[in-house]
Amino acid sequence: AQIKEVSFVKSSNRPKDCPKDGLPEFAVLGRSNVGKSSLINALVRKKEVALTSKKPGKTQLINHFLINKSWYIVDLPGYGFAKASESARMDWSVFTKGYFLNRDTLVAVLLLVDASIPITFVFTKCDKSKGGKGARPDENIRSFQELVRQNYKHQPPWIMTSSVTGLGRDELLLHMSQLRNY
Ligand code: GTP
Ligand code: MG
Repeated sequence: AQIKEVSFVKSSNRPKDCPKDGLPEFAVLGRSNVGKSSLINALVRKKEVALTSKKPGKTQLINHFLINKSWYIVDLPGYGFAKASESARMDWSVFTKGYFLNRDTLVAVLLLVDASIPITFVFTKCDKSKGGKGARPDENIRSFQELVRQNYKHQPPWIMTSSVTGLGRDELLLHMSQLRNY
């Protein structure tokens, strides 16, 4: 997991303009001001390779950073900035949506959440079997959970639900009542 070399490649406002070399990439997603650009700087141990600001709305384009000449970290504009104009918000939804839908080389999205906000993953449609056969989603999630338990220091609360069978209903209600009384 060593980062030896980092370079800013380009800013794009359309998925079409993004690098076409097919290298794998990770995109950083989250609210404006959550700390996406700062996290990238922390990962690569450079102060301002990604530009940051106290004011929300600093990152306005899709920014590609090439790591070790072999993969990218992508800094994106944030969402949900209350003071942004309607047109700026439209722009955000248009090109980030286009980016997520069209970017074949996207390995994973890193969703950033401010640590002061408790977050619970609620998986839906756990009744569905995958293509009629094979492992059910809740079984997939269970084996993923097991992997996470073995390899990571922290695990999120996650609840498997189905609106069809009622799976997880009691567990989720109990979880919410525990959070209310916390
Ligand atoms: P946009 O580009 O506007 O979407 O914001 P962003 O998500 O890229 O946030 P950015 O990295 O610019 O950081 C926003 C503010 O939060 C800056 O003032 C940072 O210094 C501060 N910040 C970011 N990460 C941390 C952190 O881990 N701890 C603290 N205390 N402040 C942080
Ligand atoms: Mg930013």
